[in-house]
Amino acid sequence: MIRNIIFGALAAVLLFAGAAPAFAQAADAGTPSKDPKRIANGLALTPPMGWNSWNKFACNVNEKIIRDTADSMSSNGMKEAGYRYIVIDDCWHGQRDENGFITADPVKFPSGIKALADYVHSKGLKFGIYSDAGRQTCGGRPGSQGHEYQDALTYARWGVDYLKYDWCNTGTRNAQEAYTLMADALRATGRDIVFSLCEWGNSQPWLWGQKAGNLWRTTGDIIDKWEGKYDYSWGMLNIVDMNEPLWPFAGPGHWNDPDMLEVGNGGMTDTQYRSHFSLWAIMAAPLIAGNDIANMDAATREILLNREVIAVDQDVLGVQGRRVSRDGNREVWVKPLSGGARAVLLFNRGERPETISVDWEALGYPPKMKARIRDLWTHKDLTPATGSYSAMVPGYGVAMLKVQP
Ligand code: GLA
Repeated sequence: MIRNIIFGALAAVLLFAGAAPAFAQAADAGTPSKDPKRIANGLALTPPMGWNSWNKFACNVNEKIIRDTADSMSSNGMKEAGYRYIVIDDCWHGQRDENGFITADPVKFPSGIKALADYVHSKGLKFGIYSDAGRQTCGGRPGSQGHEYQDALTYARWGVDYLKYDWCNTGTRNAQEAYTLMADALRATGRDIVFSLCEWGNSQPWLWGQKAGNLWRTTGDIIDKWEGKYDYSWGMLNIVDMNEPLWPFAGPGHWNDPDMLEVGNGGMTDTQYRSHFSLWAIMAAPLIAGNDIANMDAATREILLNREVIAVDQDVLGVQGRRVSRDGNREVWVKPLSGGARAVLLFNRGERPETISVDWEALGYPPKMKARIRDLWTHKDLTPATGSYSAMVPGYGVAMLKVQP
């Protein structure tokens, strides 16, 4: 026991001493705020988990989809695995009424948002909604500019537990001011509402976001592809490379958000989706599923419900993992876990299988240490190893491990 505590402390010191190169990288993006006096709201002490309508349904969302999703999520094991929030993204809105209060689209949401929130709550889940800091949302629905307190009050009356707040049609608004204004409005309602900043990283929200919200998008939109740029959207790998250097800015209650999951949406292979999910977990990213979970296949279910990988994401230490080495297509990532263990990802970016090795020293452990190793995808304990471990990793795939002194 004592030995483990000493190892844990020593390892943490060594790991952070070894963090200099990544800190240097992050310095390009600014340095962590030295004035975190104002904190958001004490929520989201581990990265939020749930589901959002956008990646699969975009503007074709309606109340049946939300009810079906709530039914599935509460009965297919996702709720028990930690998925909590069901979030309606853009296009739920109708017009503002004569007093300026926002209403739901009467065709897509004929029962109204309050009834829907009640339904989601009745399943033991939490309910989220979407708005925008501009005059209009990205989908052209009414935005919250000039109606911040009124909208926050409406959401609280409806029973909203999570607000995603977008950045379209904001003109010359200052992002920090606009998000702080909505944060204050949410706080004034007295209701616990997780606040998700969706400003795409334009104004470096990692420098100030923790005073306003619980998570901030670090990039433009994800698209269901392995790699590349497509208009305003990025492939999964591009997003990973933008989000990785920001690791010093994440922590309990305030997370970097590399956007929602595409697992199960059909644009990547199952191997690639396993990598996508593993990378999100090692980066302590919010795990917001974005597929049709009422109709998902067995492979998708197995990925989203991998509780050993989810445990890495949700570890209470709340440290975002980072890349500690890269050699061509071969990468090694590490995330310190509570209790002195490390999550390790051996990631192969290329098409051909590769042998990827990790030295305990790169994990901040004594070089000759003997460690237990658990494979988080095959769910097997491997033979304990001294000093290092190597695995053959399939093209576009990962081996994900928990290494324990
Ligand atoms: C922006 C956001 C997306 C989604 C759409 C909705 O593009 O980044 O996540 O919310 O708007 O219109």
